Amino acid sequence: MASEQTYIMIKPDGVNRGLVGDIIARFEKRGYKLVALKMVTATKEHLEKHYADLSSKSFFPGLVKYMASGPVVAMVWEGKDVVKQGRAMLGATNPLASAPGTIRGDYCIDVGRNVCHGSDAVESAQKEIALWFPEGLNQYKLASEGWVYE
Ligand code: RTP
Ligand code: MG
Repeated sequence: MASEQTYIMIKPDGVNRGLVGDIIARFEKRGYKLVALKMVTATKEHLEKHYADLSSKSFFPGLVKYMASGPVVAMVWEGKDVVKQGRAMLGATNPLASAPGTIRGDYCIDVGRNVCHGSDAVESAQKEIALWFPEGLNQYKLASEGWVYE
């Protein structure tokens, strides 16, 4: 089955607040397939590349400092429409505008502590996956596939 991949990252606040298991569980339970996972304490240089599109924003230095303040959990999830669905599962950038039931709507308040990242388009997902997983992804057939897709 040809399907999409997205880069999902639990930010340092999500790790420190004990939200790793819950965030992973939401993607797992939805039926998406985990194809890469690791904990990384990223350098500022690496994070500046990840958020390069935002480098002119006033919040950029604070964003990079926050993201470098502790380990993140880097993941690639695969499945039908996963880029858009992943963003919907995360909720709005500003948690105060995130619907209850979304990750941000359930677990956070401030935009600068919004616990999780998700790629915003298929093209940016491909760039982010290459940046965070130069070693490549895992290939396997998920046993539940026939029970998730018709
Ligand atoms: P992300 O990339 O982390 O998934 O977040 P996003 O697409 O929803 O939002 P984006 O515009 O890409 O912003 C990246 C992260 O920067 C912080 N931010 N702070 N102070 C502010 O106004 C502000 N705006 C954005 C957030 O942590 C946001 O997730
Ligand atoms: Mg973004």
